[in-house]
Amino acid sequence: MKIKKFLNTILLFEIIFLLQQNIFAAGDELNTVMSIMLVFTVIIIAVTLWLSVVYSEKNDNEGKAFLNPYRKFLKMLTKSTPIENEKDILLDHEYDGIKELDSKVPPWFAFLFYGTIVFSIIYMVRFHVIGSGDVQAEEYLEEIRAAQVERQILIKTGAFLNEETVTFTKDAGALSNGKDIFIKNCAACHANDGGGLVGPNLTDEYWINGGGIKNVFKVIKYGVPAKGMISWQTQLSPTQMQEVASYILTLEGTEPANPKQPEGEKWVEPKEEETKS
Ligand code: HEC
Repeated sequence: MKIKKFLNTILLFEIIFLLQQNIFAAGDELNTVMSIMLVFTVIIIAVTLWLSVVYSEKNDNEGKAFLNPYRKFLKMLTKSTPIENEKDILLDHEYDGIKELDSKVPPWFAFLFYGTIVFSIIYMVRFHVIGSGDVQAEEYLEEIRAAQVERQILIKTGAFLNEETVTFTKDAGALSNGKDIFIKNCAACHANDGGGLVGPNLTDEYWINGGGIKNVFKVIKYGVPAKGMISWQTQLSPTQMQEVASYILTLEGTEPANPKQPEGEKWVEPKEEETKS
């Protein structure tokens, strides 16, 4: 009896384990409510089975002929004929000593079988007659559409903007945002008019780290920490960095009140061909 109980318990945990694995593997597609419901179902089944195993031991020890709920359940599923009653369902033919029993189709099997028929009818009507469900090809297109919408949103928030892709923007709104950002964050070191204080003059043609939108964006993004210019990428969004970088470039040629002496090299914008090669 001990061994039987042990085996039953092993079987039980095996079932729970497999079910749980499947549930969590499918977790991506199932929504949370479904997963929670499934987990609960598994727990209820597990507890029921476990209780019946415990009960079977108890009653067997008392020596009673007791059909515990677990076995009752199994019997309900299989409707098998006990071996001592087999003669009742024995068919009256025999070939070379091989006889045939007229066993009932196990209900679990019949249930599954009829279930597939019902499922196929619903499936056919839904996907191929009414067309209310998406077949795979449509699901794919739907996902592509969703991804395109998402991409547009990402482009708007500037997620694709980096030092390689950034371009100068002439947009008045963007430049005015850039000015606000500059006054708020940068003027302390570069002066309100960009003439330079601790940081260099940003209004001349000379650049320590290279001019042009890409270099300026890069310096703002990563900073030059060793020289006291901090990295702004955690505080400004890519779009904001593009705006302030563009604003800085519009300062070239303006006349600040107290301009710092030019530092670095005179920047010459590379020609189209050169950039491409
Ligand atoms: C704490 C002072 C400080 C603040 C604040 C600061 N900078 Fe700077 N910045 C510097 C210093 C110092 C340098 C010179 C770095 C070097 O020598 O390479 C510099 C360099 C730069 C350069 C490159 C100039 C060149 O000649 O290569 C740009 C562009 C720039 N800063 C933009 C900004 C912007 C935009 C902000 C605000 C978002 C900002 N800085 C805020 C101190 C600062």
